[in-house]
Amino acid sequence: MLPSTAQLKQTGGRELKRIVFDEETIAERVQALGREITAAYPDGDLLVLGLLKGSFIFLSDLVRRIDRPLQVDFLVASSYGEGTVSSGKVRLVYDPETELAGKHILLVEDIIDTGKTLNKLVGLLRQRRPRSLEICALLHKHVADHLELEAKFVGLDAPTLFLVGYGLDHAENFRHLPYIASLT
Ligand code: PRP
Repeated sequence: MLPSTAQLKQTGGRELKRIVFDEETIAERVQALGREITAAYPDGDLLVLGLLKGSFIFLSDLVRRIDRPLQVDFLVASSYGEGTVSSGKVRLVYDPETELAGKHILLVEDIIDTGKTLNKLVGLLRQRRPRSLEICALLHKHVADHLELEAKFVGLDAPTLFLVGYGLDHAENFRHLPYIASLT
């Protein structure tokens, strides 16, 4: 269900156009990703690194679907600011405190758009000498010119619309929506 007019007034006037992925669709894909990831890591230490803020809901649902020991930590990078187009500048605001060397690192991203965020982070993480480095993205727009590392695990192919909800924001609004919607 889309938010009421009163709720929309509290979100800077930007309105939702339509639901692109509903709760059931997201839950099915997250469950399938959990199974895939469980099967892909038969041994070794697995560190699931959530890229904040966008991945916070996806990450929390995903790790509960991974049936093997793992650790969780976070990275904070920011690229969009308050606009709807990527600025291309990626800023690392928080660096994980957990040791990365020798571990399987699974970087969890809510959406791959231009790929600039990931391209910067992949280089940084490789320098920490992990045993392996892979990407899990809930949404992939498939519009990036170049990806340093293609996502091994992808939830849903996303349309080239500005999407919000299930962790994704516009100027920090809409992250709490349980579904993914497009903006007008
Ligand atoms: C958004 C999104 C991805 C990234 C994708 O993050 O969560 O991390 O942009 O865009 P790209 O592929 O074009 O780099 P944002 O910088 O808006 O921060 P947030 O996660 O705090 O919303």
